[in-house]
Amino acid sequence: MSSTNRALVPPSVASLSPYVAGRSMEEVARTYNLRHVIKLASNENPLGPSPFAVARMRDALDHLHLYPTGLDLRSKLAERFGTKVENVITGSGSEGIMANIVRTFLCDDDEALTSEGTFIGFEVLARGRGISYRTVPLRGDWHLDLTALAAAITDRTKIIYLANPNNPTGTIFSKQDFDAFYKHVPERVLIILDEAYFEYAKDNARYPDSMFYRYDNVITLRTFSKIYGLAGVRIGYGFAREELIANLMKVKLPFEPSTLGSAAGIGALADREFLHRSLEHNARGMRMVTRGLEEMGFHPLSSEANFLMLPLKSIEEAQHLTQSLVERGVIIRHLASFGIPNAIRISIGTDDENAFLIETLKQVLVSV
Ligand SMILES: Cc1ncc(COP(=O)(O)O)c(C=O)c1O
Repeated sequence: MSSTNRALVPPSVASLSPYVAGRSMEEVARTYNLRHVIKLASNENPLGPSPFAVARMRDALDHLHLYPTGLDLRSKLAERFGTKVENVITGSGSEGIMANIVRTFLCDDDEALTSEGTFIGFEVLARGRGISYRTVPLRGDWHLDLTALAAAITDRTKIIYLANPNNPTGTIFSKQDFDAFYKHVPERVLIILDEAYFEYAKDNARYPDSMFYRYDNVITLRTFSKIYGLAGVRIGYGFAREELIANLMKVKLPFEPSTLGSAAGIGALADREFLHRSLEHNARGMRMVTRGLEEMGFHPLSSEANFLMLPLKSIEEAQHLTQSLVERGVIIRHLASFGIPNAIRISIGTDDENAFLIETLKQVLVSV
């Protein structure tokens, strides 16, 4: 880097590594000269986008010369989840809202606290802002350790980030875990409950749906990227008390999310059939992939989301499986970048993709 650039770029940004997206199917097909490639690496909905969302976006195309207002989607969300518009925010994906939260609430001496082995989007945002970022280890059973997190709160802690279900483990913490944890969190500390995979977990009686925990210092984040199959449109939403939302609205980029994003969200919310079909499909795929992996002697974690984590005996085994699978046309995620280098994560695909994954893995094991 030239000395001019060094002076321009703050150390907090210079020390970051750029986000490395998963490999694309086209690139893998070209590199390994393959005709059939599947991607089970980014927890997307294998059934595609919600058809209602697509129809709404089509309708919106003729109005793209107008700046978006975003209000319609906020009202629909308020209606659907039994709250007021003033308690709702939308953004360019839930990560867009996270970025807004970091800009709005975190100042130089504040500290963010979370777990190891969790979604790294929040870490990148906090570190990029120069905020000190502390983690506690996962529990031995790969669950978030809420007891350790409560004990790690200091006077400087401003935000605690909790993904539930957690990515990449697929585990949840229970209502009891959260109640016990919440007692130790001072009111001045904001808790982000990232519920990107909420729809997959909501019917589990142990799951603490955060809409029943509307405490003053809780911000819920959700997304249309996962179950509604709209990752490419970048549309997410959040709930919090009015004062927090009002301050987020001051800092938010005025015209995010886009007209297409809001239209997609409105369509998706009405698409009950797609939601149910996607849930059923995922449950079936999860059973099939879990059984297939267990029959080969693996021990996948029980997952409440649309992916599962597979802890392995060594880093080498995780690297070997990731590489051998990609060479045969199956892209999965090695979890080194999540700080769990001896594990891989597999998203649930279509029935055919799941079957191809299991078959290919069998071939890999035979070829060792
Ligand atoms: C836990 C978690 N939160 C947030 C996101 C990002 O979602 P969005 O597409 O809404 O920004 C992801 C995506 O993988 C995730 O796993």
